[in-house]
Amino acid sequence: MKSANSRELFLSALSGGKTCRPPFWIMRQAGRYLPEYRKLKEKWGFLGIVKNPEASVEAALQPIRRFDFDCAIVFSDILALSEALGYPYGFADGGGIFLPKRISSPGDIDSLLPAGAVGEKLSYVAESIKLLRAELPNKGLIGFSASPWTLASYMVEGGGSKDGFRKFLEFAKSFPGEFASLMEKLSAAVAEYLKMQCECGIDAFQIFDSNASFAEENRYGELSGKYIESVLESVGGGVKSILYLGDFGKRFGEAARIGADAYSLGPSVSLGQIKESFPNVRSLQGNLDPKLLERAAPELIASETRALIEDMAPRGGHIFNLGGGITPQAKIENVEALAETVRKFGE
Ligand code: CP3
Repeated sequence: MKSANSRELFLSALSGGKTCRPPFWIMRQAGRYLPEYRKLKEKWGFLGIVKNPEASVEAALQPIRRFDFDCAIVFSDILALSEALGYPYGFADGGGIFLPKRISSPGDIDSLLPAGAVGEKLSYVAESIKLLRAELPNKGLIGFSASPWTLASYMVEGGGSKDGFRKFLEFAKSFPGEFASLMEKLSAAVAEYLKMQCECGIDAFQIFDSNASFAEENRYGELSGKYIESVLESVGGGVKSILYLGDFGKRFGEAARIGADAYSLGPSVSLGQIKESFPNVRSLQGNLDPKLLERAAPELIASETRALIEDMAPRGGHIFNLGGGITPQAKIENVEALAETVRKFGE
């Protein structure tokens, strides 16, 4: 019998199918834990890699060559879209994301470039996706965007935050009309951006709602969820969607009705329990703790990986991943142990 290739495995798991082993990839799979990535970054700088399709394709391929993951994710950043709308991003000296100009008044919202500008401004992302598709006909290919809420949080805050995105939450609370108009504009831009990526040949797109858990208790749906629903509706169902919720898995009930094909959850929840409590959810992605890759020994990574796969295999619809992005301190031998364990499961 012909065994399924990586791309088929990925598409089957996204539809809730039971697969001989889960397809697997990891978030931020190209990154500072890889010496070959650090070398590429020395030459081009982070933004230089993102904006140069050849360098970006090289960054995306590096982890595929080394670990043979089932899926490649285009190398870019969620803040590329902020830049395309007129709010560039960079890195602060001490590390972390920094936006030299932030959204702080109604006039700023009016000055955002229209969604129609996204295609041209981010044509380098389109080019990278087309090149990757040609390189990897049998791998899953993933595009992505931030959710409107997570994008807004960075654009209003002016970067990352050490105080729980206070400026952003105050803005959303004090100016509900302006907040809604910002969210509508960002939703249109996110939809435009994802449509462009779909046309370039991705198999699925992942919407990162990394800052979902900053939404007030029981208000996630109105603050973030409904805008994601409008994005999904406007992109249409031709390409599969994955909604990354990170820590927000603990409040999954507030997000379960959004209607993504798959949900990607952080390590604080049991994927098996989520499947039992929400039988309508077809596909789940995750959720090994990325911190384990820094400290543990390869044997422990192998046993934790196996336990997660064994729990999910009979339920179907599992895409193996970390519960969050891989850290620069992750040990390469642990990523190797993870990859070998997942692949062996299917033999
Ligand atoms: O997953 C992948 O391999 C695809 C590429 C990708 C990157 N960022 C590359 C990147 C993706 C999907 C992202 C998403 C992203 N970017 C998110 C959502 C995921 C999450 O972690 O919640 C967020 C919040 C960002 C914004 C961002 N970009 C942050 C907070 C940072 C880290 C800043 C720091 O100083 O540590 C980045 C930088 C970034 N984006 C790196 C990579 C590989 C590290 C850059 C480097 O130093 O080389």
